[in-house]
Amino acid sequence: MKGLILSGGTGTRLRPITHTSAKQLIPIANKPVLFYAIEAVRNAGVKDIGIIIGETGKEVREALGDGKEFGVKITYIEQEAPLGLAHAVKIAKDFLGDDEFVMFLGDNIVKDGINNLVKDFKKNKPNCQILLANVENPARFGVAQLKDGKVVRLIEKPKVPPSNLALVGVYMFDKNIFEAVEKIKPSWRGELEITDAIQYLIDKGYRVEPHIIEGWWKDTGKLEDILEANRIMLEGLEPFLKGRVDKKSQIIGRVAIDEEAEIVGSVIRGPAIIGRKSKILNSYIGPFTSIYYDVLVENSEIEHSVILERVKIRNISRVEDSLIGRDVEVTKSKRKPKAYRFMLGDQSHVEVY
Ligand code: TTP
Repeated sequence: MKGLILSGGTGTRLRPITHTSAKQLIPIANKPVLFYAIEAVRNAGVKDIGIIIGETGKEVREALGDGKEFGVKITYIEQEAPLGLAHAVKIAKDFLGDDEFVMFLGDNIVKDGINNLVKDFKKNKPNCQILLANVENPARFGVAQLKDGKVVRLIEKPKVPPSNLALVGVYMFDKNIFEAVEKIKPSWRGELEITDAIQYLIDKGYRVEPHIIEGWWKDTGKLEDILEANRIMLEGLEPFLKGRVDKKSQIIGRVAIDEEAEIVGSVIRGPAIIGRKSKILNSYIGPFTSIYYDVLVENSEIEHSVILERVKIRNISRVEDSLIGRDVEVTKSKRKPKAYRFMLGDQSHVEVY
């Protein structure tokens, strides 16, 4: 069995972060989202993994290398444009050959992994197995209609959902999917849709089976979802102290402080993680905050936020519910006149009071 992890796409919902970097490399509890996907696939025993890459391919290659560090073998597959999930399957045909495979969206996190899903697929040998979760707002998702334990229909974002079962970004296929992706036509948004390909399998009488997950999962395509994923992963954080905490600082609850990080005159209330070489000076870091590496936080308060590498935050109280991209500086200045001064990238979001 092989793995196919999708790490292309445009990530429009996460601009401006995705103007310059891959959304799949946004750290959740200081680990890129994509690493969770690779680990989930590997832990299910799948070691031969193809990664679909697009515009941000260079950065993804640099982050993953040949996969040795993860104990897997990685083959990169370039997608000329984000033409859809089924298009990604189509261009991976040479890599996948006749093997069965698990396809995993590189911006999805499935907390408890996919071991049971893979086990089910190997035991029951359907042509396709989809992962479904009970959700409260199915109209936002692809929704499955089941009959006698089989999938009979898939509908993208239905106005009147036939069930509460939403498609999670993990799918398993045998080689018959290639017939489907060849036959289907692009949708109104110009993409080859995986839901159309699976519906093709159903209509042709192939066996498409559901696997319903009980555990937590998330598509991290939007800011709120990143903050939620960060919250959930920090809840399971194993505390450690590798950096330096001075006597005046207070560490409360589950907190991880990475190598060469420095906490001076500050309060860190967990769950929170402070990355390598970051400095927290005279500040408060509140619950559900992930500070990545080489960050400086000085005379500031931050809570429920994800702060990326090399950010500098000075004299700001207080930052909440925020995702701050690489190398951003947020400071309070004494310059006159008193005013907000911005240099923001396209599609930035700023809320002031
Ligand atoms: P989406 O989140 O559906 O699409 P997107 O990345 O273009 O984001 P947005 O809707 O905000 O513009 O994609 C799911 C995953 O699949 C994501 O990790 C990107 C990846 N993907 C590809 O690799 N190739 C594609 O053609 C598409 C559409 C997505």
